[in-house]
Amino acid sequence: MELFVVGAGYVGLTTAVGFAQLGHRVTVHDIDAGRIESLQAGRVPIFEPGLEDALHQEQARGRLAFTTDATPGPAVQMAVVCVPTPIGLDGLLDMWIVEDVVGRLAAVLAPDRMIVVRSTLPLGGPDRLERPAGGRPDSDRPAIVVNPEFMAEGRALADFAAPSRVAIGYLSARDRDAAARLADLYAPLNAPLIVADARSVVLVKLASNVFLGLKIAFANELARLCDATGADVAVVADGLGFDPRIGRAFLNSGPGFGGSCLPEQAAAIAVETARCDVEAPLLSAIATSNTTHQQELVSTVERLLPRGLRQTKIALLGLAFKANTDDVRHSPALTVARGLRARGAKVVGYDPVANATAQGADPELETASSAAEAIDGSDAVVVATEWPEFASLDWPALATTMRGDLVYDTRRTVAPDAVTAAGLRYVGLGRSGVPATPR
Ligand SMILES: NC(=O)c1ccc[n+]([C@@H]2O[C@H](COP(=O)([O-])OP(=O)(O)OC[C@H]3O[C@@H](n4cnc5c(N)ncnc54)[C@H](O)[C@@H]3O)[C@@H](O)[C@H]2O)c1
Repeated sequence: MELFVVGAGYVGLTTAVGFAQLGHRVTVHDIDAGRIESLQAGRVPIFEPGLEDALHQEQARGRLAFTTDATPGPAVQMAVVCVPTPIGLDGLLDMWIVEDVVGRLAAVLAPDRMIVVRSTLPLGGPDRLERPAGGRPDSDRPAIVVNPEFMAEGRALADFAAPSRVAIGYLSARDRDAAARLADLYAPLNAPLIVADARSVVLVKLASNVFLGLKIAFANELARLCDATGADVAVVADGLGFDPRIGRAFLNSGPGFGGSCLPEQAAAIAVETARCDVEAPLLSAIATSNTTHQQELVSTVERLLPRGLRQTKIALLGLAFKANTDDVRHSPALTVARGLRARGAKVVGYDPVANATAQGADPELETASSAAEAIDGSDAVVVATEWPEFASLDWPALATTMRGDLVYDTRRTVAPDAVTAAGLRYVGLGRSGVPATPR
């Protein structure tokens, strides 16, 4: 099939490469000419494991091309919309870019073609998509379906190839055939399939993200309860997770959830429920829990330092919102960095791949080119991202360069004994009452 993907970001590039790998011919368009130019030259502007190699292969096979031309060619059977839906001033996902792109595509694509919206939509999104269909009567427009993406950054290509599920939503009855055709395209992936009305499918996506945020927030509140009672949150999480009704995934405590999806959607669902006049105290509390947790982490570091945070240097290890990505959107590490600075600390961050994106997001953030450089002269080390390289740091050597002795590990990435053997003080989120033994 001939595909036209709009938006060459995390979702667009993964979708384009994934469909090319399934044998389709894909042209990717982006409004950012510089991005298209570098993709044409085989350079991927984001860090996503395996993506660049796979992209080179598909370019070489002639199945993947990039263009600044926003108009799909006449052979294009399916246009896939992967543009951003940032949070608007009203707290809901803002879909004006999606509406604009869908409107333009609907104006030029023939009625037997289809538009697939991969971007995450607000709950009222499907109703608004029907309106801008290029001003053409409903019977004359291309089919429009929603097909939210559930991939996780850091393993996006693997998730495309083996999705937990494929959800396809039709706007109206006449879009059902297109939904079935799209389902056929995904058939080789053997994934559980949901084909339903678009309103339900949009809520599947929102609820999935919010539920993941809920599990993380739950684990983080438990971690602070463990700190207060001397329990170990990993034991508690394992104990919970063995129950198949609960599951262990997303119960690791840490500095809070981040990324482009979970924080915005945890905030958005609170606004959606209020807008619909639905009393939903649980759904409204998830974003607040995450924010509170990050403030508490800053307070914890302050309490752990003998003279507080004023005039201290804090080495912040990890800036990406999780390992294996350079994405710093809503990264808890950056929130913690701002919190520490607001209380008088100088923060020097280091991330194996996200230094540049972090500085782009927070120009005041100082970064170092290695963990050792960040730690040199520091009063405390705060581990904020679970990069594997932080598990094998040379603590005896690093200890000699530090001014203070605190290592605060929010991710349980560092081996406590390695830190204490170097004469340093290890404190792990959710395990502070527990003797320092590696798990
Ligand atoms: N990143 C994720 O993990 C993830 C997962 C699931 C769903 N989503 C959703 O997918 C959508 C895209 O997210 P992303 O992370 O890929 O975003 P992104 O910011 O990485 O990429 C978006 C791309 O769209 C381009 N763009 C913007 N306006 C355009 C226009 N009018 N025409 C053409 N290109 C345009 C931008 O230049 C950018 O390259 C969002 O709705 C997001 O919520 C993201």
